[in-house]
Amino acid sequence: MNGAAGTQPGPEAQGAAGRTLRFQRPHASVPQFTNSPTMIVLVGLPARGKTYISKKLTRYLNWIGVTTKVFNVGQYRRDATRSYNSYEFFRPDNTEAMKIRKACAIAALKDVCDYFTRAQGQVVVFDATNSTTERRELILSFAKDNGYKVFFVESICDDPEIIAENIKQVKLSSPDYANCDKEEAVADFLKRIDCYKLTYVPLDDSKDRNLSYIKIFDVGSRYLVNRVQDHIQSRIVYYLMNIHVTPRSIYLSRHGESELNLLGRIGGDSGLSPRGTKFACALGTYMRGQCISDLKVWTSHMKRTIQTAESLGVQYEQWKALNEIDAGVCEELTYEEIQDNYPEEFALRDQDKYRYRYPKGESYEDLVQRLEPVIMELERQENVLVICHQAVMRCLLAYFLDKSAEELPYLKCPLHTVLKLTPVAYGCKVESVFLNIEAVNTHRDKPVNVDVDRDPEDALRTVPDHS
Ligand SMILES: *[C@@H]1O[C@H](CO)[C@@H](O)[C@H](O)[C@H]1NC(C)=O
Ligand SMILES: *[C@@H]1O[C@H](CO)[C@@H](O)[C@H](O)[C@H]1NC(C)=O
Repeated sequence: MNGAAGTQPGPEAQGAAGRTLRFQRPHASVPQFTNSPTMIVLVGLPARGKTYISKKLTRYLNWIGVTTKVFNVGQYRRDATRSYNSYEFFRPDNTEAMKIRKACAIAALKDVCDYFTRAQGQVVVFDATNSTTERRELILSFAKDNGYKVFFVESICDDPEIIAENIKQVKLSSPDYANCDKEEAVADFLKRIDCYKLTYVPLDDSKDRNLSYIKIFDVGSRYLVNRVQDHIQSRIVYYLMNIHVTPRSIYLSRHGESELNLLGRIGGDSGLSPRGTKFACALGTYMRGQCISDLKVWTSHMKRTIQTAESLGVQYEQWKALNEIDAGVCEELTYEEIQDNYPEEFALRDQDKYRYRYPKGESYEDLVQRLEPVIMELERQENVLVICHQAVMRCLLAYFLDKSAEELPYLKCPLHTVLKLTPVAYGCKVESVFLNIEAVNTHRDKPVNVDVDRDPEDALRTVPDHS
């Protein structure tokens, strides 16, 4: 049986192969965030960071378990017509182009419908630029007919420096300007913005007072929030009020190699091995080399992360939320012992490692919920070094690199390797720095055979070496 094939069906759908055992356990403590589909609709002139907000918000929602997709109407327009020569296309009196643009918005809305009904989507982020009252009414009546909730996110910014920076960072790489001189492209883009200005009507305090929205002024120096309707909208507002665009780096590292790592035992709360202690020193040297004056260092409540942080000789904060995944009855066992004592559990975990919860312990899905406040605080902070654990680091990394629930539990986070994450344009640059201190391998790949009746040999095929 192949429990993890293809796209991600609901948990019940996976029981189709006839094994119902794993569904009898209590279901995750994971809250259900939405009941009616929600459209998040971006509003604002071009180069106001709407696509940045759309992508980032979508990444966050998917990570916390809310199935979300971005629909970029500009992309529909580019697919529909190769006829873009210049800003002239965006003039309100260009009736031919106007028709194309309206048709594109309608095509996008149709796909939104499909996404909610066929792909079990919960939230759609509608990244559109035409920001007229008329267009908003089109979207509102579409949403009303289909029973969707609408939440507007308007980005308002009049600072010419921020706008010019945004154009340079993301717009010039757009396919519209593929074969174009840089200066010309910027000039064209500014004229394009002027076209939108002719008809752009910002959300209005009194006329739009019945709508749900957040207005973000000058990249978050001020906010105006109106009529938040439900839990998911309040989560979105909270998130948008915490993110910032100040350049910085986040460093993720596991603790130094521990005594239990050497024995191939999972979990527990042991201290560092001699090589683990060496790594702690090397980490201190590496971080000093980064020359960051305001570095924050976070650890879990576990000995091995605290010992690692101690050798940095700087202040650090301990977070219980950063503790390693709780392996319940499997704590401090080797994989061989888990196979001996709980062969069926071991197979169930291999079938769906993200959702599988250790008896009396946690699942990766639980861990993501536990780590949500850590992510929120990371968004608020600037330079941070997080000294954590394998499963915890996979969850954090999945957030920054937009990895799916299927990939997350198999992300490679080796010991004695720092991952330096630096935000760029719409994503994150990753540098992986091995600090040259040997350590045991703790990564176990998904075995080919995940059947509960498999031979122990098949179950143990991917277990890393240990003493
Ligand atoms: C936006 O679209 C509407 C039609 O939906 C049109 O009347 C309006 O002029 C357009 N605005 C711009 C700036 O092109
Ligand atoms: C807002 O809703 C109320 C109650 O449904 C309605 O009476 C009022 O006219 C609406 N206001 C606007 C500006 O749409």
